[in-house]
Amino acid sequence: MAHRWKNDLTDADVTPMGAYLSRREVMAGVAGLGLASMAAPVRAAGLSPNSWEEITSYNNYYEFGTGKEDPARNAGSLTTKPWTVKIDGMVDKPGDYSFDQIMQAMTVEKRIYRFRCVEAWSMVIPWNGFELADLLKMAGVQSGAKYVAFETLYRPEEMPGLRYPVLDWPYVEGLRLDEAMHPLTIMATGLYGKPLPNQNGAPLRLVVPWKYGFKSIKSIVRISLTSKQPPTSWNKANGREYGFYSNVNPKVDHPRWSQASERAIGGGLFAKRQDTLMFNGYDEVAGLYAGMDLSKFY
Ligand code: MTE
Repeated sequence: MAHRWKNDLTDADVTPMGAYLSRREVMAGVAGLGLASMAAPVRAAGLSPNSWEEITSYNNYYEFGTGKEDPARNAGSLTTKPWTVKIDGMVDKPGDYSFDQIMQAMTVEKRIYRFRCVEAWSMVIPWNGFELADLLKMAGVQSGAKYVAFETLYRPEEMPGLRYPVLDWPYVEGLRLDEAMHPLTIMATGLYGKPLPNQNGAPLRLVVPWKYGFKSIKSIVRISLTSKQPPTSWNKANGREYGFYSNVNPKVDHPRWSQASERAIGGGLFAKRQDTLMFNGYDEVAGLYAGMDLSKFY
């Protein structure tokens, strides 16, 4: 009997993040494979990236609808040129940085990462991007800063999903400063060597491969350095189900489903579920959480 339900879990057993929200709406109205950096270990031998088609047609981007195919269908309306990112708070050089200005200053590399959604599906994604640390260093992080807050564009004319009170818009996320500065944390600007498609968070989005996908906030317009832990969208929507840390952890289940295993997108209907790895396989981040009870800080 032990854990039978974990192994037999099917998609039907996993309630998407949106399910409880749809009810509310009704009521209301890879591992570092191919990393350029020497420090990044190659641990994903045998892992092949998902196809362009899979990565760009099965998405979560609630500003464009809550269905997995809605973002690909609706995000074409998003204007990403010009694009400005406001960097403010506890930095030496606050200001409005244009996307072009950022791209000129940053070194873009290829990073093939595992991507694990809290809904228990996963992909392997060949991102192009730069280290968030480099952007933060450019802005000059001040000594009292302890957290980084991120904000997605709020533009109702182009984002049909904003009409629905699914989340408290705009979508916001946050990291502890040491998590933000970790070399695995990137700002992605492309996929398969092409500019990031709108449904994946164009023109630039966060990717934190050892955390559940919802931390990887899309289409970022503001980055603020703060001394206090910033509010985050899913935590505000349901703090019991979604914590601030949201590290991938097979031992800490979501209150409504197991996190012990995952369904690899593209594996086919009869593919065996894969075991979920602690920190999504990125063990080198373990030191960031030394001494913390990760079932409490989930
Ligand atoms: N960012 C914004 N602004 N809005 C969203 O709805 N969804 C998150 C995250 N970033 C989301 C977001 C969730 S739940 C996941 S799993 C990933 O984006 C999905 O990224 P992908 O569509 O590129 O796979």
